[in-house]
Amino acid sequence: MKRSVLMVLTVLACAPAPGQRAVAVGKLDGDLSRGEGVFLARCAGCHGPLGQGTDAGVALTEHFSEHRVEELALILIDGTGAMPPQSELSNQELADVIAYGRAKIAEH
Ligand code: HEC
Repeated sequence: MKRSVLMVLTVLACAPAPGQRAVAVGKLDGDLSRGEGVFLARCAGCHGPLGQGTDAGVALTEHFSEHRVEELALILIDGTGAMPPQSELSNQELADVIAYGRAKIAEH
């Protein structure tokens, strides 16, 4: 846990713009029902409607519970590995989809 916090801080320090966005997203209250809409429209195609994963995207059941909100925001803003950046989502949409993932996807 400590290590991942340090990693985030390092990433935030090296990439001020996405980092600042991620911190701003972390301060917003996410709305679960709007988040569900964003997830189904923007994420489910690759990650599956329940976040169970498909050939195009990994299962999110562990990732959503293990990452902090700012880390998830950064992953979405910058993209990761084979996942394209989701940076066209607004800060509020990012907060919503992260809140939804942490509350609902992590349960499955
Ligand atoms: C085009 C397909 C695609 C779309 C659309 C997509 N993802 Fe991904 N996502 C991936 C793939 C593939 C990975 C694994 C990346 C890697 O590590 O190579 C990933 C990784 C992730 C991770 C990080 C898992 C980890 O800890 O490594 C999270 C969190 C995530 N996606 C959430 C989302 C959310 C939320 C959305 C919608 C806003 C979304 N993704 C949209 C394909 C996609």
